[in-house]
Amino acid sequence: MCGIVGYVGPRNSINIIVSGLHRLEYRGYDSAGIALCLKNNEKLVLVKTPGKISDLETAISKALPVKDNRTFTLGIGHTRWATHGVPNQVNAHPHLSRSGEFAIVHNGIIENYADLKSRLIKQGYTFKSDTDSEVIAHLIEQCYEGNLKGAVAATMERLEGTYGIAVISSKHPDTIVAARKGSPIAVGICDGETIIASDISAIINYTKQVIFLNDGDIITATASNIDISSVKNIPVSREMTHIDWDIRDIEKGGYEHFMLKEIHEQPLTIANAIRGRLMEAEGTAKLSGMQMDPREMARIDRIAIAACGTSYHAGMVGKYYFEDIAGMSSEIQQAAEFRDRNPIIQRDTCLVAISQSGETADTLAAVREAHQKGATVLGICNVVGSTIAREAGCGVYLHAGPEIGVASTKAFTSQVSVLAMLAIAFARTRRLSVNAGREMIHQLSVMPKIAEQVIAQESIIIKIAEKYAGSRDFFYIGRGYMYPAALEGALKLKEISYIHAEGYHASELKHGPIALLEKNVPVVALVPNVPAKIKTMGNIQECKARNAPVIAIATEGDNDVRSLCDDVIFIPPCDEFLTPIPVTIAEQLLAYHIARIRGCPIDQPRNLAKSVTVE
Ligand code: F6R
Repeated sequence: MCGIVGYVGPRNSINIIVSGLHRLEYRGYDSAGIALCLKNNEKLVLVKTPGKISDLETAISKALPVKDNRTFTLGIGHTRWATHGVPNQVNAHPHLSRSGEFAIVHNGIIENYADLKSRLIKQGYTFKSDTDSEVIAHLIEQCYEGNLKGAVAATMERLEGTYGIAVISSKHPDTIVAARKGSPIAVGICDGETIIASDISAIINYTKQVIFLNDGDIITATASNIDISSVKNIPVSREMTHIDWDIRDIEKGGYEHFMLKEIHEQPLTIANAIRGRLMEAEGTAKLSGMQMDPREMARIDRIAIAACGTSYHAGMVGKYYFEDIAGMSSEIQQAAEFRDRNPIIQRDTCLVAISQSGETADTLAAVREAHQKGATVLGICNVVGSTIAREAGCGVYLHAGPEIGVASTKAFTSQVSVLAMLAIAFARTRRLSVNAGREMIHQLSVMPKIAEQVIAQESIIIKIAEKYAGSRDFFYIGRGYMYPAALEGALKLKEISYIHAEGYHASELKHGPIALLEKNVPVVALVPNVPAKIKTMGNIQECKARNAPVIAIATEGDNDVRSLCDDVIFIPPCDEFLTPIPVTIAEQLLAYHIARIRGCPIDQPRNLAKSVTVE
């Protein structure tokens, strides 16, 4: 979704802001803009455009031709994902105040904007855009009494909703003020310059030392100094976090798309998720971020899981783990529903919140609701320092490195690996014997190798993708652990290839959707060698009887599946509880290659955003 970059320092801010905006492109956006400041009381320069950052670069070079060699040492930039108002130049950020002396960029949604807007109109203000954000620029100007931070703080007191904002003014050509409530702002601390961004990807090229604002914080940043306080102007101090991501992690490294790179990274990212955490001799896993000793874990009676999208599918696998492996009562909720339906949370409940980005608004709301009800909250996040990681209380990082492709891939397999370790650790405080624990830990330790073997099937998967890329509808079916894998396979295909795809429990097909099956509707049947396979084979027969072509994902050497199905992707044998990992990697490759053959914009599918920070 929307992205913010701000710079103050001796260098020309245009280059730094534009390259930062490029780094944020993966989040999804439809227009972009930049506001620059030169010196005291000189008019701010504003350039905005619908479309891509490359369009913004063209617009900047028109507005500021090469012969204009002024060095703008202060500026803010934005990528917008439209919520209020269509994606066009006027609605793109930054927005200027009436006098043109204040420029703002905003992520989030101002819920009371209509009320604020009508009051401002009565006071003689005119609005150029249809956005909820423009009110912020006018309010800051109205509240300004010589102190930019004071004006931002006074404005914050009037805003309802969520925001990350960055503000500059021609009256303060050496200062950026930024603030957050519900939408992230990170500050990169460099020598003699400061970079502010909504996402650390825009910062790590310059520094690994980052401060994350908390809700209600306002930062005043110059090139050499930062000052953080609350809305009530009480100074606060925030810890510096070291980010160990490498700039190469956010580059394609020779792959055609980030998604393909991230699919191929999985042997390594799964290894990173389990590294140092598997205690083979004790038959358990040690997740230090959990901050719970076995006695505390034994006191937890119930696991509630909340997540969205792909993370929700990983959570479904996690629910099965807690039931199967740990024998614990467990439930999974879509995060929005968790909060909306007033769930029953007791003191012995542990909410496991799963979020790759750690910023998903609905998952964050579930975390806050669970805290409110006195539950223990454990976050499983990838992005270090993200809001959910910080608010959860305790948690486990995935260590998967940045996931740039909008379609989540490596995060899923790392989430499943972490959930397996978590369930084993809980199970060892209950009935799981040390020997059974050792066997499971051993099975997990070979997962990187198994991931590699699935990826080695890519050329076969490409041939299957070529055969079915023209289809308009797909079904994915599976049972048990293969049911969440079916939902995930269908989600992956629909989001990047725009083919209509639905995931079903294999048994549910005959309760309605089977009506849609015919020769042009392929069914992906997930039938690795697990006890439920025999029943799913029966469901495959039902599909074949309706002339639907069946693509199976099955265990190497399974001749029954080979002779029944039209096409087969084989995965290596592995323990049933880990089958979602290799099966999903095969699905990711199938979806990727179908989308590539169809010529879809794989890393930035239409209408989608990487980090969904609105509810
Ligand atoms: C699908 C996808 C989304 C995310 C969902 C939650 O490929 O990426 O469904 O999984 O938006 O995001 P996180 O995990 O960041 O909370």
